[in-house]
Amino acid sequence: MRIILMGPPGAGKGTQADLLVHELGIPHISTGDMFRKALKEGTPLGLEAKRYMDSGGLVPDDVTIGIVKERLDMADAANGFLLDGFPRTVPQADALAQTLQELGVALDVVLDVVVDRDALLARLTGRRVCRACGATYHLVFNPSLQGDKCQSCGGELYQRDDDTAATAENRLDVYNKQTAPLVDYYKKKGLLLEVDGGKPVDEVTRDILKALGREKR
Ligand code: AP5
Repeated sequence: MRIILMGPPGAGKGTQADLLVHELGIPHISTGDMFRKALKEGTPLGLEAKRYMDSGGLVPDDVTIGIVKERLDMADAANGFLLDGFPRTVPQADALAQTLQELGVALDVVLDVVVDRDALLARLTGRRVCRACGATYHLVFNPSLQGDKCQSCGGELYQRDDDTAATAENRLDVYNKQTAPLVDYYKKKGLLLEVDGGKPVDEVTRDILKALGREKR
């Protein structure tokens, strides 16, 4: 399947993507993860992305479109993919449409994960991530059984630089201005499916799989 997982910062896209790709057997392509990896490796791409990510703004379209095109050309994406955090602007959505047309494939569905703003802010500011394996926790909603260490690998848990209250607010504003118009964009194409992301994690996963016509393995 070729799926876009849309939704504002903190909607649970990364959490759901990790569970869904396991169920569906397709690669998880997250532009945010790609930028953070590049930054960790100290590449020019990572350093450029950091300039925008730190304030909660978007990395320029040409940079973002370039890395996604390269990624979609890789062999493991030939039979499907789950895009998380891309597209985020109309030019990115147009570029994706063109790339898929050139590859002779089409999107199956765009899942829009809906969560109210107060809940999003609580999720973002309470999120903690393992520095070693990338596992995501939440101080209240999903705490690690090992306190400030990852319960899977024992790695140190940290707060993302862009999860402070002020930057999280800005990211939500940027989303409403630049990304929310894509809801109508995909609705007009008959591809949009709304998901209530305010429910507990396993219920959201179950709802998505049901909507996709898949039972949980
Ligand atoms: P990115 O990493 O994509 O961030 P985002 O879209 O802001 O999404 P998040 O990762 O913050 O949230 P999520 O929806 O994945 O939630 P999660 O599952 O972690 O992008 C970061 C930056 O990179 C952007 O600001 C931009 O600068 C740049 N960028 C990326 N893509 C770009 C693009 N296409 N163009 C330009 N720039 C781009 O969950 C959040 C928390 O909630 C966790 O603690 C989790 O445990 C908890 N949680 C999850 N689900 C639930 C639930 N159902 N109930 C309770 N808690 C839950």
